[in-house]
Amino acid sequence: MEEDAPESEHSRMAKITYIEFGGKEHVIDVKPGLTVMEGAVKNNVPGIDADCGGACACATCHVYVDGAWTGKTGERNAMEESMLDFAENVEPNSRLSCQIKVTDELDGLVVRMPESQH
Ligand code: FES
Repeated sequence: MEEDAPESEHSRMAKITYIEFGGKEHVIDVKPGLTVMEGAVKNNVPGIDADCGGACACATCHVYVDGAWTGKTGERNAMEESMLDFAENVEPNSRLSCQIKVTDELDGLVVRMPESQH
């Protein structure tokens, strides 16, 4: 079995798969502590506009969390809930990706982008 050297623990990344509405996948290593939105924006993944820069005030970072992951990403917060009222095609697994903090636990996360933001 191959194990990572202990010193690599600190630089552990969570692999997140962002799937564009058209089906194109982007597999990105995101540093824990960033948000799912930041992981996309910093890596030029299209489909997440994030107009407000993560302040939970625009709803243009809308994503659908893959069914296998909804338990791990947690619940929407109240502010997020009210911002999602402004998004289109909201589903039960809709989240604002700026409100999902990346942790080691989310290594392997899969999110899908809506057809458009707004
Ligand atoms: S970036 Fe604006 S609500 Fe998430």
